[in-house]
Amino acid sequence: RIVYVNGEYLPEEEATVSIFDRAFLMADGVYEVTSVLDGKLIDFDGHKARLERSLAELDMDKPEAFDDLLDIHRELVERNGIVEGMIYLQVSRGSAGDRDFVFPDPEIVKPTLVLFTQSKPGLADSPVAKTGIKVISIDDIRWGRRDIKTTQLLYPSMGKMMAKKAGADDAWLVEDGKVTEGTSNNAYIVKGGSIITRELSNDILHGITRAAVLRFAKEAQMKVEERSFTIEEAQDADEAFVTSASTFVMPVVEIDGAPIGEGTPGPVATRLREIYLEESR
Ligand code: PDD
Repeated sequence: RIVYVNGEYLPEEEATVSIFDRAFLMADGVYEVTSVLDGKLIDFDGHKARLERSLAELDMDKPEAFDDLLDIHRELVERNGIVEGMIYLQVSRGSAGDRDFVFPDPEIVKPTLVLFTQSKPGLADSPVAKTGIKVISIDDIRWGRRDIKTTQLLYPSMGKMMAKKAGADDAWLVEDGKVTEGTSNNAYIVKGGSIITRELSNDILHGITRAAVLRFAKEAQMKVEERSFTIEEAQDADEAFVTSASTFVMPVVEIDGAPIGEGTPGPVATRLREIYLEESR
């Protein structure tokens, strides 16, 4: 696999970053995951815009190659022959050659930019999407700026492990009695034909897939309600699903052991997945 590090395309085994890199020492980095279908990038502009916002919110400089990101993405897709999969991009505040809580002088220390591809054949035609996933609920103990896509992913990783241990696939995070989002996706329920998902704030990541799916839903005359909901309301819903760049629209068929609706993917989630895949291609 060919990866990109600070201006260079290299075989992955030759690509290195400093042990003092602040993403490594402090999780002082932000990232994006852009999916690839039929060799084409999905929602690249949205991911680039969110990256720009994440950087600005953390007072981190844009990497020098910011304006070339589309070309770099395309080059990596091409060089690695990615048909279905994703591109991971990470920007960190760089390395000052030492450990210090204080941000290094941006005049001297430049951001680190890393990109790599992940091939995922069968991403669009996923068998999991046909049966749906099971989720458990766990406390949302993450920091208060979940709108910034930082590389602090320890708790989401732990959440996935808790789910795995409980025989489930993923976890929904709950704060003050309400679902915020999934460990790596936005969470939705469907009740009486209405699609319900938490409103945007600093409490959740502003999903690029979320924005697209809500737009498609409205275009298809489906009703959308942006508000928070409890686990009890979700268990009592007709359907549930999650969205992300890596799963598109993924039906949720069980929450904390309670089947949702018929316990199989519902019509709204299934239709939204179809629309999303058609429109994105
Ligand atoms: N995760 N919420 C969280 C906490 C996420 O980590 C993600 C994405 C989303 C969905 O955002 P989008 O639709 O822009 O992918 C919501 C990526 C895919 C990941 O960490 O791999």
